[in-house]
Amino acid sequence: MTQMTQQQRDELARIEGLLRARMDKAQRRLKHTLNVADTAAELARTYGVDEFLARAAGLLHDWDKVVPADELAARAVHLGLDFSAPVTSVLPLLHGPVAARELPAQFPELPEEVFQAVARHTVGAADMTPLDMVVFVADGIEPMRNGEDIARLRALVGDVSLEELFFECLAQGASYVLQTRRYLYPGTVDVYNAYVAKLGRA
Ligand SMILES: [Fe+2]
Ligand SMILES: [Fe+2]
Repeated sequence: MTQMTQQQRDELARIEGLLRARMDKAQRRLKHTLNVADTAAELARTYGVDEFLARAAGLLHDWDKVVPADELAARAVHLGLDFSAPVTSVLPLLHGPVAARELPAQFPELPEEVFQAVARHTVGAADMTPLDMVVFVADGIEPMRNGEDIARLRALVGDVSLEELFFECLAQGASYVLQTRRYLYPGTVDVYNAYVAKLGRA
């Protein structure tokens, strides 16, 4: 695995500084975000993904989580984002795709794949890249997430393929949505079914 360059370390430090300022009044969210960046870096090393991109996407994944829901909804409509679902039903998902559309102007030095991973950490996709999966999984298993189900997912790291690990995290997330009787985004079902087919489960 290649080491990060000094320039990349400096860039990550700069992003982290901006993140700390942005989440100054959301310390728990900040801690979660820093944990996701660290966990994404570990997963990147395990699965041969670029560590710099994993850390950058981890640091940025919840950039818009601090934006009030009504404002996020207004931005999503303004950006013309189409979820094929009522915007009020997908409020918890908006912060990924909205941030992905707005972050490139603030971080033009970062490649598009970072922003795609930010978008997909909430909505997923049928064709997740390794970087997308690393960020998605890191969000689900970072150290502040607890419970038996999460421990089971963590134990899979390195033992199963990244696709299997992503699928397990996706299924776990969907199960949780069903258990808590909340709105299950149809896009999640589509992604789930795509991976059932891809992994030969059906
Ligand atoms: Fe998020
Ligand atoms: Fe998150």
